Amino acid sequence: MHLTFRQLQVFECVARQRSFTRAARELHLSQPAVSMQVKQLENAVGLPLFEQLGKQIHLTDAGEVVLGLSRRVDGELREAMEAIEALKGVESGRLRIAVATTVNYFAARLLSRFCSQYPRVRVSLDVTNRQAVLHRLEENSADIVLMGQPPAGLDVEAEHFMDNPLVVIAPPNHSLVGRRRVPLAALAQETFLIREPGSGTRSAMERFFAEKGITPRISVEMTSNEAIKQSVEAGLGLGVVSKHTVELECGAGRLEVLDIKSFPIRRKWFVVHRQGKRLSSAATAFREFVLNEAKQVTRRGKSRKRHH
Ligand code: PGA
Repeated sequence: MHLTFRQLQVFECVARQRSFTRAARELHLSQPAVSMQVKQLENAVGLPLFEQLGKQIHLTDAGEVVLGLSRRVDGELREAMEAIEALKGVESGRLRIAVATTVNYFAARLLSRFCSQYPRVRVSLDVTNRQAVLHRLEENSADIVLMGQPPAGLDVEAEHFMDNPLVVIAPPNHSLVGRRRVPLAALAQETFLIREPGSGTRSAMERFFAEKGITPRISVEMTSNEAIKQSVEAGLGLGVVSKHTVELECGAGRLEVLDIKSFPIRRKWFVVHRQGKRLSSAATAFREFVLNEAKQVTRRGKSRKRHH
């Protein structure tokens, strides 16, 4: 049976108006065009849908059945369109974000603002190390990823949004605290705590020390920035962490950033998604939010420096 949605629409209008002429007016069609659509539908069904009694047209039994069908199809279609609109809208989308642990400090603040602006977007945030974030990208299980240097082997769109300097942290009573421009070689005498394999911070630190020909002692390996900071504070050794992760502790005098020559290690954060991925409105809005927010934070940072 060959019938089209357009035929059903035209037929429904004629049935509702009980007139070909009025239906033609409503649909902005000529009357023969309306008659033609109804005729084709009747051919497809194999029965007449209207009968003419005097001047009035009436639905046949087959007409009643087809009218029911056309209203159900129309209802279904409307519902589907609404669902699709909702998927397009920032208002009620779902958003899956994965961030490298260092970015979490920035991302948490960012998310609280994003969620108050778009309270109906359902966000899931996965905070994990570089390797796991890369895995999320590979398997396409995150819409947007915030991370360090994006991988060379994967087709991604990446935009730099903020600098991520890695610094050496020490407890406040450490002998290097307060010394200016300490030569890098001094670190060879120190013990370091290090992040787990798969951490971007760890590989940046290892690369840096290897390039400079320094092999500091490594004591304990830890899977989070928090654990490193607490252990450094407790005197277990020094640590190399993102400056963004220690602002609070430094402000409170619990940790100090050492002034070591060649430091900080310059890293960057990128907002990343798979190339060719169709970003939902929520994901697009979040991406823009990250870029804008980062611009403001950077601007605030610069003006703070000028005032000091
Ligand atoms: P990570 O984060 O050390 O937790 O892997 C590093 C990064 O910024 O990519």
